[in-house]
Amino acid sequence: MTGSALTGVGLGLRWEFLDEVLDLLDGGAALPVPFFELSPENYMRRGGYFPAAIERVRERCAILTHGLTMSVGGVDPLDAGYLRELGRFLGRLDPPFHSDHLCFSGVDGRFVHDLLPLPLTSAAAAHAAARIREAEDRLERPMAIENITYYLVPGRAALDEADFLGEVLERAGCGLLLDVNNLYVNARNHGVDAAALLEKIPAGRVVAMHVAGHEWRDDAGVLVDTHGAPVIAPVLDLLARAVARTGPVPVVLERDNDVPPLEALLAERAEVEAAYRRGLAAREAGA
Ligand SMILES: [Fe+2]
Repeated sequence: MTGSALTGVGLGLRWEFLDEVLDLLDGGAALPVPFFELSPENYMRRGGYFPAAIERVRERCAILTHGLTMSVGGVDPLDAGYLRELGRFLGRLDPPFHSDHLCFSGVDGRFVHDLLPLPLTSAAAAHAAARIREAEDRLERPMAIENITYYLVPGRAALDEADFLGEVLERAGCGLLLDVNNLYVNARNHGVDAAALLEKIPAGRVVAMHVAGHEWRDDAGVLVDTHGAPVIAPVLDLLARAVARTGPVPVVLERDNDVPPLEALLAERAEVEAAYRRGLAAREAGA
């Protein structure tokens, strides 16, 4: 496992405002964003504009990478072609680690375009951990795994979410990308206290965090992790608690739906940073 020298609150880079970011950087503007996080799947296997645009961002700003399709917990063999391409892509950007989700995304060669939960068992933890180690070997780069939202648990849960995560992390020896919003949404949907769940997360394994917005769905009676709304205050409070435990790891504000103008996202990023600083101050006060 490896951390990074990156700290502060960055933004998930999205096509909706990529050109605006480039114009600002080209114009010499001092963007208040210490780094961007991007998903390689949105740029790999493409020629032309996008790879060149990413190179231009990379020249001026640090980059973290966050994958979408590794299917860390799946039962199909890891996709060798995908890992080869990904390794080459990461080689050009050289992020301190690469992250993907603790989930499975398909079976029998069919991809479901969703992040599906694993059984909360030691067997599933061992299976996922072995694949994380294999991915690290093939990518020649440390990995971090992200806790996903889940709306049901397949089979009978032998472990709670935090113990399951902890077991995967210990067996794989990898980092945790702690999505604080996902932790909050799961806690609310499954009747668990979010702060208590956070206390059980192994803070020493956290190498980065995510925050995002979610929405209540009346028809389903659950909170849904939509990445389509601003981050709510209780999630910012949970972020501050998390930072108080982990110290200054990089935090990413994610937004994927109803993406507002860059100016509004930057204003929200400043609110996230205020929570981040509250967490660091609490850590110092408690030290
Ligand atoms: Fe996330």
